[in-house]
Amino acid sequence: MRDCHYSRLLKRLGAKNVLGVDLSPAMIEAARHEESQNALGIVYEVGDAATMAVFGSFDVATAAFLFNYAEDEQTLAQMFRSVAANVIPDGRLVAVVPNPDFINGRGDTLPYGFFLEKIGEGPMRLRVRMTFVGEEKFRIEFTQWSRHAYEDALAQAGFADAQWTPFAVSKEGIERYGQNFWDAILANPKSVVLSARKKPA
Ligand SMILES: C[S@@+](CC[C@H](N)C(=O)[O-])C[C@H]1O[C@@H](n2cnc3c(N)ncnc32)[C@H](O)[C@@H]1O
Repeated sequence: MRDCHYSRLLKRLGAKNVLGVDLSPAMIEAARHEESQNALGIVYEVGDAATMAVFGSFDVATAAFLFNYAEDEQTLAQMFRSVAANVIPDGRLVAVVPNPDFINGRGDTLPYGFFLEKIGEGPMRLRVRMTFVGEEKFRIEFTQWSRHAYEDALAQAGFADAQWTPFAVSKEGIERYGQNFWDAILANPKSVVLSARKKPA
């Protein structure tokens, strides 16, 4: 997955103005390079979602595996507040987050090329190590926040109507691998979509 995957997907799906923000200058450099090779009219800026400036008033904010980087509840709440400051009243936040109910350490994700294990635990969170076991072997660590932590942070930032939407397997995925291949991950999904509406002031 390229670092700018989602911003480019959303623009191609018809979003009018797209701004991509990332903490990592290297990620933004790579995204700008992609944009220079294949211009879609997307603007990329370096920014920390926990302290971010107001870049504009957007109908929708998306965050793909961002909130799992928050080190503590205060940072998580700040990230949601920064996002809210960039969204119009009644606008939406759509985030992909590690599934709060995911059961770690079972090995049921090995057919998909990775293994997840709990390496720590705190209030409203688990610390998780993800090991990729394909040709390219590497590890990352992230926080699996509880539903309660997300819903608290959403409410503090002025979001309402939180919805948790499970992933479904695409027609192409079923055609390519067969339905049975997906049974394990559908029974213990690794990720989930969290969306909410910003309440008018
Ligand atoms: C899994 S990637 C997301 C993919 C990317 N947004 C895309 O459209 O494909 C998660 C990204 O979050 C970024 N990140 C981590 N902490 C952040 C923070 N505090 N503010 C902004 N970005 C952050 C990381 O640098 C990383 O590139």
